[in-house]
Amino acid sequence: MEINYHNPVLLNRSVSELITQKNGVYVDVTFGGGGHSKKILKSLGVEGKLYAFDQDQDAQQNTLSDPRFELIEANFKDLKRYLKFHGVKEVDGILADFGVSSHQFDDERRGFSTRFEGQLDMRMDQTSLLSAYEVVNTYSEQQLISILKLYGEVKGAHKIASAILDRREKCSIDTTTDLNEVIKPLVPERFLNKVLAQVFQAIRIEVNQELEVIKLFLEQAVDILKPGGRLVCISYHSLEDRLVKRFVREGVFEGYAEQDFFGNRFVPMKKIGGLVTPDEEEKKLNSRARSAKLRTAEKI
Ligand SMILES: C[S@@+](CC[C@H](N)C(=O)[O-])C[C@H]1O[C@@H](n2cnc3c(N)ncnc32)[C@H](O)[C@@H]1O
Repeated sequence: MEINYHNPVLLNRSVSELITQKNGVYVDVTFGGGGHSKKILKSLGVEGKLYAFDQDQDAQQNTLSDPRFELIEANFKDLKRYLKFHGVKEVDGILADFGVSSHQFDDERRGFSTRFEGQLDMRMDQTSLLSAYEVVNTYSEQQLISILKLYGEVKGAHKIASAILDRREKCSIDTTTDLNEVIKPLVPERFLNKVLAQVFQAIRIEVNQELEVIKLFLEQAVDILKPGGRLVCISYHSLEDRLVKRFVREGVFEGYAEQDFFGNRFVPMKKIGGLVTPDEEEKKLNSRARSAKLRTAEKI
């Protein structure tokens, strides 16, 4: 396995929250470097089983040789379909560690990072058709404004979208450096890194349809968990965390849980404990842990 592929966040806490049955069936829907999966396997008995998902072909290199383990190269939006294919109808726990791995960020060819020059790509699934290049070079001004506002909470989204269109009239925006150069003159130096990070986050979320797939995943997770089974989610920005929090509290993404005549709410899960964040020590050792938020819920 490649060293430094990814340093797992909230490792002990997430796995101890997840496992309630030593010989149960578990799913790690974001395998990455396999840090969480290895810890799960250590905590399981000989009869336990772990299915892992990752849509990035690079993650295959980290596969684990353990008879209790199966790595599925797929998007977790198709969780139920793939588990059904493997003969699994219900599971005891599901772990999701959303977002991008360090490996994806740090490989300049993947185009995820504002810090390195690379082609505008940002696809987690390298076979997918939509890349950051298409978003930046073909989306309308209005589409760009919406993405920047919704997914990056970018102030000055209009100015940035308009500058992208101006630049496109002269030549295409091919690389991360090209995009940085379009944005640089519009933002005061002291805010530049923050705005670049927000713009890149917005484009990345659009390219990978990150919020839509999390919604599809959460709905299927509830269906496939056994009563008492646990869902553990680690989020890295407020848009992800809001979906998890809302879904656990209301069972829906919009509006509120349905109620019967007596005011009993129909919610399929109950939260276990409160919000968990990494301690100062972990944040110091692993910068990727800084924004992490862990939530655990149990199927009722
Ligand atoms: C933060 S990393 C997970 C790291 C992992 N927990 C570890 O210990 O190494 C997120 C991983 O999930 C994958 N991923 C993100 N969204 C996905 C999706 N919708 N379906 C499948 N895999 C996804 C990414 O490709 C990446 O490898």
